[in-house]
Amino acid sequence: MWGQSNLARLVGVAQPIIQAPMASATTPALVAAVAEAGGLGSLGCAMLTPAAVAERVAETRRLTDAPINLNFFANAPAERDPVRDEAARRLVEPYYRELGLELPAEPADIRVHFDPAMLETVLQLRPEVTSFHFGLPAPEMVTELKAIDSVILSTATTVHEARVLEGLGVDAIIAQGWEAGGHRGTFASPFEHAQVGTFALVPQVVDAVSLPVIAAGGIADGRGIAAALMLGATAVQLGTAFLRCPESAVPEAYRQALSRAGEDSTQVTRAFTGRPARSLRNRYVEEMADHADSLPEFPLMMGFHGPLRGASTERGLADFMPLWSGQAAALGDAIPATELVSRLVTETAEIVERGAAGS
Ligand SMILES: Cc1cc2nc3c(=O)[nH]c(=O)nc-3n(C[C@H](O)[C@H](O)[C@H](O)COP(=O)(O)O)c2cc1C
Repeated sequence: MWGQSNLARLVGVAQPIIQAPMASATTPALVAAVAEAGGLGSLGCAMLTPAAVAERVAETRRLTDAPINLNFFANAPAERDPVRDEAARRLVEPYYRELGLELPAEPADIRVHFDPAMLETVLQLRPEVTSFHFGLPAPEMVTELKAIDSVILSTATTVHEARVLEGLGVDAIIAQGWEAGGHRGTFASPFEHAQVGTFALVPQVVDAVSLPVIAAGGIADGRGIAAALMLGATAVQLGTAFLRCPESAVPEAYRQALSRAGEDSTQVTRAFTGRPARSLRNRYVEEMADHADSLPEFPLMMGFHGPLRGASTERGLADFMPLWSGQAAALGDAIPATELVSRLVTETAEIVERGAAGS
């Protein structure tokens, strides 16, 4: 039975389907709805304070007693660079003017890395699964998380990164293909080399490590899940497919952009945060495309872009919002998350039993 994979057993859920953690898009209601249908729900916690994480977990636990995944960014903090700051200021200033906003003398000091205060909170919250993007935090932190029996996951975008993560003691590896929406999880390979599609990446990671592999990137229906399982994945992680669910925190203008998206509507850009991430193409992505090399490092660019994001969200303008999306947005549907997971399970079972999607 495809539904009883190693990973489903390891994390204690019925189905090997993970709703991806998506900072600023995932909600307790989404996580609980996914859990209700037997999948693993994930809260994207990278942009939250420890108190906000505790609050969301409490709310999620009120809605479900199923296992949950808390997700964080494991990047090192960045140093300010006055030359890059000045370049960003010059580039975003016309947009601030256009929206009638004041460009602050000092950009907001954005911190998203996993620090000791967050570790303390997570140790108290005891999530069944803790996952990381951009590598792993310090080994002592990982040891402490393992001591509370939290299953540790992290993202690899190359075979090399998968081997590094295996060496650092993760329990399973998320193989994130180039199709994926949101930030590239790349942490130990040059970004330019880490553009491997899911179809090529998953079997090569499966061959290279002896851990369960979770396929991510461009998977949005039973055909994609069945294909990932055939490639040797033990589970799948879907992000974009859940964005249009009513339980997600995605603003209306973003939902509409997703509903119009085709396979060629996305682009990888550093313009929102300083790190490569896949978004639907909008005016900001297009106009900033030639300036990627001059921008402040992740996450500092968010200090310059944040007010534009806030104002465009308030005003329902998709032009300046990060519209994170994978290449399979068009396969998504605006249906409740429980229904989506049930549909994915049924479609996959039918294909697996029949032997092939097209026959
Ligand atoms: C809106 C959005 C936000 C994301 N935020 C995170 C995040 O906070 N942490 C993380 O590990 N991955 C994040 N990702 C990446 C997902 O974990 C996953 O790799 C990706 O969604 C898979 O590709 P797909 O979108 O084609 O399903 C995000 C993806 C999207 C679409």
